[in-house]
Amino acid sequence: MTDSLLLTETADGIRTLQVNRPDKLNALNAATLDALDAAFAAAAGDPEVRVVILTGAGPKAFVAGADIAEMRTLTPVQGRDFSLRGTRMMRRIERLPKPVIAMVNGFALGGGLELAMSCHLRIAADTAKIGQPEINLGLIPGFGGSQRLLRLCGRAATLELCLTGAPVTAERALQLGIVNRIVPAAELEAETRKLAAQLAGAAPLALRGMLDCVSIGGECGIEEGLEYEAAQFGLMFATEDMREGTGAFLEKRKPAFTGK
Ligand code: COA
Repeated sequence: MTDSLLLTETADGIRTLQVNRPDKLNALNAATLDALDAAFAAAAGDPEVRVVILTGAGPKAFVAGADIAEMRTLTPVQGRDFSLRGTRMMRRIERLPKPVIAMVNGFALGGGLELAMSCHLRIAADTAKIGQPEINLGLIPGFGGSQRLLRLCGRAATLELCLTGAPVTAERALQLGIVNRIVPAAELEAETRKLAAQLAGAAPLALRGMLDCVSIGGECGIEEGLEYEAAQFGLMFATEDMREGTGAFLEKRKPAFTGK
């Protein structure tokens, strides 16, 4: 299925979503936010989909931010609504019960970095440029950037990126813990697909339990977080996949997980 703002493709349990406004460096206007929201809702509900890869079209950008032209004329109330529209969509990604990998193929700035940070894993091309440049527009991040960057890499780096607005290299983003991995640009797609294939073969309910442990348990205090993990761990004993995984280990064969 293809629509003009978002290209969608599914193969071998991997759904690839590509933001498709390359002439605007894939800037996120309201229609693109809505297309992403609908696409992630569909991916969540589609049993064929085990993993999602999110990327940007064209050779230059993952996403170069929220659409500045569209934002410029917003009133305060519209600005808040625009922020909530993006925030809700990104929270949907973060809480998706399946792993989402951001394939960062170029500029990931402002809303682009916020979008990448709402994904569970980030693989960046070594040529990528990453930052929160809103300060240069007299703005601050509006799609969760101040909160997710803080949780990913702490106060010092968050304040450095958001107060200066200066983008960092992929190498520096790796040092700061913003991205999981960097790879040569020419190998980005192959490496991302390799990781996606690995996750597509993993036990879906265990993946989901793990995502919940980090997204929900990780926001609690340690006692509640540990309790939450114990409850999720216990739940795994109700799954066929747990019998399959442990049985396959003992029988020295490869497991075949079904998501049951
Ligand atoms: N919103 C709207 N349009 C954007 C955009 C954004 N966030 N980022 C890029 N574009 C548009 C440009 O206006 C330009 O459109 P045009 O050809 O109609 O003039 C097109 O995308 C190409 O961008 P351009 O600036 O010419 O490319 P560049 O290679 O010279 O510079 C960037 C690339 C990323 C450094 C520069 O585009 C930029 O600074 N973008 C804004 C980043 C930002 O502030 N993001 C946070 C927004 S809250």
